[in-house]
Amino acid sequence: MSDESSDGEADVELEARLEEQDAFAPPESFVEQANVTDEGIYDEFEENWPECWEGAAELLSWDEEYETVLEDDDAPFYEWFTGGTLNASYNCLDRHVEEGAKNRAAIKWEGELGETRTYTYGDLLNEVEAFAATLRDLGVEEDDVVTLYLPMIPELPIAMLACARIGAPHAVVFAGFSADALATRMNAAESEYLVTCDGYYRRGDALNHKQKADKGLRSVDHDVQSIVVDRLGDELKHFLGTDARDYHELIEEHEGASVEPVSRDAEDMLFLMYTSGTTGQPKGVKHTTGGYLAYAAWTSHAVLDVKPEDTYWCAADIGWITGHSYIVYGPLALGTTTVMYEGTPDYPEKDRLWEIVEENRVDIFYTAPMAIRAFMKWGKEYPERHDLSSLRLLGTVGEPINPRAWKWYYKHIGNEECPIVDTWWQTETGGMMITTLPGVNTMKPGSAGPPLPGIDARIVDAEGEPVDAGSAGYLTVQNPWPGMLRTLYNNDDRFLSEYWKEYSDEDADEWVYFPEDGAKLDDDGYVTVLGRVDDVINVSGHRLGTMEIESAIVGVDGVAEAAVVGGDHDIKGEAVYAYVILEDGQEPTDEMRDRIVAGVEDSIGPIARPEQVVFTPELPKTRSGKIMRRLLEDVASGNELGDTSTLRNPEIVDEIDDQVQGD
Ligand code: WT7
Repeated sequence: MSDESSDGEADVELEARLEEQDAFAPPESFVEQANVTDEGIYDEFEENWPECWEGAAELLSWDEEYETVLEDDDAPFYEWFTGGTLNASYNCLDRHVEEGAKNRAAIKWEGELGETRTYTYGDLLNEVEAFAATLRDLGVEEDDVVTLYLPMIPELPIAMLACARIGAPHAVVFAGFSADALATRMNAAESEYLVTCDGYYRRGDALNHKQKADKGLRSVDHDVQSIVVDRLGDELKHFLGTDARDYHELIEEHEGASVEPVSRDAEDMLFLMYTSGTTGQPKGVKHTTGGYLAYAAWTSHAVLDVKPEDTYWCAADIGWITGHSYIVYGPLALGTTTVMYEGTPDYPEKDRLWEIVEENRVDIFYTAPMAIRAFMKWGKEYPERHDLSSLRLLGTVGEPINPRAWKWYYKHIGNEECPIVDTWWQTETGGMMITTLPGVNTMKPGSAGPPLPGIDARIVDAEGEPVDAGSAGYLTVQNPWPGMLRTLYNNDDRFLSEYWKEYSDEDADEWVYFPEDGAKLDDDGYVTVLGRVDDVINVSGHRLGTMEIESAIVGVDGVAEAAVVGGDHDIKGEAVYAYVILEDGQEPTDEMRDRIVAGVEDSIGPIARPEQVVFTPELPKTRSGKIMRRLLEDVASGNELGDTSTLRNPEIVDEIDDQVQGD
């Protein structure tokens, strides 16, 4: 992140005042009303672990009480709240309606073009029941995986909750992913049902989504039945083939249906979420009904300070875990009003988000550093156009936030009156793991904070020994927690080797979870997360495997070899840099470059599009033939180049560097 501000003199003054300040006490007005204010909670959880997690389970309504909080006989295949049964859709809907919240807004949806839709808890329950009845009619049975390939429209959470109601795990595929990515996931999950839509708006344009879904379906190995939501009406005509049905017709047919929520075992799968790993094959992260839901609800309560009367907005996409836990399950389990926005932050104007905050009197706002860096670049005049005084708490997630962006967010969005929670977690952890409790802890810009109560996160060296305060090392989690993934779908071996191999002592039955992040231990025990230590890069808060991108590039005709790394980027955090060797006789033309970019978009999606494609006759390799990725990263980031003397071909580094810096 450059230290240049586009924001003129006022920022200079802010800088002067805030620059010196590296610790911020929680604002008094916030503490007075916070859900959690007692710092004794840390000791309490430690002394009373794992029973401390009963408090999380108590946020839910159980059909049958659990017998054991934590079952660790078969570690690291832990089980939580064993013997308990419950239904996630009942917990997110029926019980609130039964308690008199029928007319409270559950979802407030803002379309990109300014249309709005509000679903009360009563409305939402009705449509979820109608869709649950539809799915049953279609043949969906308990434990069948239903794939949801939908953008940010209300039918997405409706479909999720309908699946949950009948005990069919959902697998949401981010709408920005390509046809190939959809097919890979449907094949891996052997999913025979798909809910998708005709299209949606992006920056005012109608995008054809069904075309992508249809193309994906052609690469699925088994028969699939689809339901298509008509989002665009006359804007984009579409035709349903023999295997597809229209969502709205089906809802009409099943209107008024009553579908009993199926009692699920606490350990039954609630959903699958595919995420990128080191190898090319995405990992199907399995989350459960009891532990996941309890953890999403508890962290929403303790960290996001959600209360039923709030209007809460997490500006993420439901296609990622953030949206699952903190747009849908956490907030709805607590009976609050959750805002959903279809579009982009700068369309039609760069004040779109602040307009939504003002119009809905949003209390809590949760976003990503990439968005905050963009707001900062656009300038404070956009938030200043709106009354943001309804805000009480701000949050950030997805990648490290630099202190400057933190302070800008604190001042220009929060008016120095809202605590900021910088929440470290992952698809696999199901919910937040390291963050301050907003009503308890002092905030330090750039540092996520201490591990949450009950979470034993430690920073260790390569041997697994805890590092001293002030040192960097590898982040580990040394005890289980309710929201943790249970396994990788159909792949217990990969689950063990990806997360439990490095630091566990199997013979002693001591299991240590390794999230593949580096971190620094601050003097006060706070954790400053440094980023991934595996071949995963974080572009705009989205996780991409470099191997996935490399195999997409090598799949392009005429390409011989490719190496993909992340390079620093002002807004995105990291951007994709592709170093490509062409086959003999192939020319490094613009046309070739376009084909490579198209290849990546086809196999993954536009988010993985390379920032730069660098043609080179060779890649820098060690004498043993290993690609020196670190050097390629330095080149991409414009860093001083490290030692090249151990290379077989040191001269190639300067050649590549000239090309990248020259562009
Ligand atoms: C990776 C997980 C958790 C939902 C969004 C991403 C990075 C996440 C932070 C943070 C520094 C962070 C880590 C992590 N990350 N939050 N507050 N500070 N880094 O989920 O796609 O599973 O990615 O995002 O590197 O491993 P994900």
